[in-house]
Amino acid sequence: EQLEYEADAAEKSGYDHYMLKEIHEQPRALRQTISGRIDADAGTVDIEVDLPAEYIDSIEEIQIVACGTSNYAGRYAAELLESVVDVRTTVEVASEYEFDGGRDPWRTLVVAVTQSGETADTLSAIRRAKRAGARTLAVTNTLGSTIVRETDDSVFIRAGPEIGVAATKTFASQVATLTLLAVHVGRARGSLSYGWARELLESVRKLPNAVQGVLDREDRVREVAREYADSDAFFFVGRKLGHPVALEGALKLKEISYDHAEGFAAGELKHGPLALVTEDTPVLALLTDGSRPTETLNNVKEVQARGAPVIGAATADGDGEAAADSTYLDVELPVPVTGALEPLVANVYWQLFAYHVADEKGRPIDRPRNLAKSVTVE
Ligand code: G6P
Repeated sequence: EQLEYEADAAEKSGYDHYMLKEIHEQPRALRQTISGRIDADAGTVDIEVDLPAEYIDSIEEIQIVACGTSNYAGRYAAELLESVVDVRTTVEVASEYEFDGGRDPWRTLVVAVTQSGETADTLSAIRRAKRAGARTLAVTNTLGSTIVRETDDSVFIRAGPEIGVAATKTFASQVATLTLLAVHVGRARGSLSYGWARELLESVRKLPNAVQGVLDREDRVREVAREYADSDAFFFVGRKLGHPVALEGALKLKEISYDHAEGFAAGELKHGPLALVTEDTPVLALLTDGSRPTETLNNVKEVQARGAPVIGAATADGDGEAAADSTYLDVELPVPVTGALEPLVANVYWQLFAYHVADEKGRPIDRPRNLAKSVTVE
């Protein structure tokens, strides 16, 4: 028994759970994701994908299909794609997806985002798209997976194996990979300027250190998590790129803590969710660049007026007004990156928050009830 315990601890490299180990592995995972793929000076990327320039030029629409955390990575990427590539981009939950490809379906690029490459809903969405004549691309962590065999092309996120049921490092590596894809497509189509490509790529290169900066502040997040662990419910809000991060933050927390958690576009609070806000419902708000911090701060004031505690993640040069407010717990982003990637870095705060709330409650973090790492039924 003792031996078994030691082997288990060794695999987790001394961490209590795989999830915590994987949260801390993110700088390394991100380095692997981007290694050899970026030429920031040239403003180009090489993601080993076989999408000929003529094809990229001919794309009329990009449709992203994915489930769970991968779907939120897809939503993040869609916001980015729409801003750097002059092509309509949609994201759909794979189980709801119907292909609708216009006159020449091949000109629709259907991108499946899946960590495992084995999620049944995602595979079946891709099969529908292929049957209709679309071109398909997989963004996955798993070499030799079914999705790789069934799509026209694949790009690997190279995050390394993820054991914890709650996806963490793969989310970061998915968004980083999709950012590289966006730059690649944007440059090939001429819609993304050299200057902006360079700025994005330089920020992608800074991601590992930026994430490390957040991890270095884990003690502070643990303190906040312990303070609010007994709350009735948690709301996560953000705008633009902060919206998928709010959804992902709420998903993480509900999966492993079993607490009620919901993510909203911050502007939607007043259209319903505000009715649920009390002194016992902490609101976690993204106030970084890329998530419209000034507008979000107005929504934060609405919940503060109802007595809700606000936990905000903000940029280092932060919003003085917010920081001066006594109910505002601000956790800063130590290494600034471009606005397009700040919400991704801030997401690591929500991962740590979810972990420490669940840990405080003694939940079986790596194997939450009723959930599976890979869902192979539709
Ligand atoms: C399951 C896992 C989630 C994951 C989702 C999609 O529900 O518990 O963590 O996000 O499947 O998995 P995929 O492997 O397709 O990314």
